[in-house]
Amino acid sequence: MNETQGSIGVFDSGYGGLTILRELQRRLQDYDWLYLGDNARAPYGNRSFEIVYEFTRQAVMTLFERGCHLVILACNTASAKALRTIQQQDLPKIAPERRVLGVIRPTVEALGDISRNGHIGILATPGTVRSRSYSLETAKLYPGMIVTETEAPMWAPLVENGEAHNPGADYFVKKYVDALLEADPQTDTIVLGCTHYPILLPKIRQYTPPHIRIIGQGDLVAESLADYLRRHPEIERRCTKGGKTEYLTTESPDKFNGIASYFMRARVEATQIVI
Ligand code: DGL
Repeated sequence: MNETQGSIGVFDSGYGGLTILRELQRRLQDYDWLYLGDNARAPYGNRSFEIVYEFTRQAVMTLFERGCHLVILACNTASAKALRTIQQQDLPKIAPERRVLGVIRPTVEALGDISRNGHIGILATPGTVRSRSYSLETAKLYPGMIVTETEAPMWAPLVENGEAHNPGADYFVKKYVDALLEADPQTDTIVLGCTHYPILLPKIRQYTPPHIRIIGQGDLVAESLADYLRRHPEIERRCTKGGKTEYLTTESPDKFNGIASYFMRARVEATQIVI
């Protein structure tokens, strides 16, 4: 068979996708990964639909050019604002045999098993919240659930600027958790609907009552991808297996390597690219 193969692409506006990549590496150890962080243009959360779509399309094309047949948008904002257009309009024209998957659908699918009273709180970027993607997807799968979406516009910038563990972050962490719980005091499950947010988890946990579950997306996305690869052998056989990860960033590698090595608990050496 004369088919090309490549790594699985993982894209985020910046560092947030690393929280997904870590779980992908753990769950799917044999595969090769190519991570792309558009750190020079992050955060995406306050940007318009058109800009998020255009930046995401450029990133996907870059990963395709570097051999990926499958790309995971490890970014809720990109999944909310660009995924559908890329899947429905771009792929059939430019790469009908390649696939792009997002992180919102696998997260929503898991909610049925997680919430006890059906009151779900979503903390996400303004772009994701205003798209209402979580409410719409949940209404399709679990029509009885009450979904409250709250914007946390300062959280991704805190992470991108390396401030997630500093005392200044406490004010904004408490502010958005309080706003969500005020909007629905019955919330029993909070979904961190932005891949940057697990990096703030120690502080988010500190300001959230202990009976409320806090859900990150990494293991949900990893489980869903494992299932996808089982169901799609035509895509699976195009993914190389060497257990390696390469990193690309649009920012200076010196800056990226320090923060990324900390999050990945391993030495990261990224290559800078222009997209
Ligand atoms: N990590 C991204 C997300 O999941 C985007 C954060 C941002 O760039 O504002 O939404």
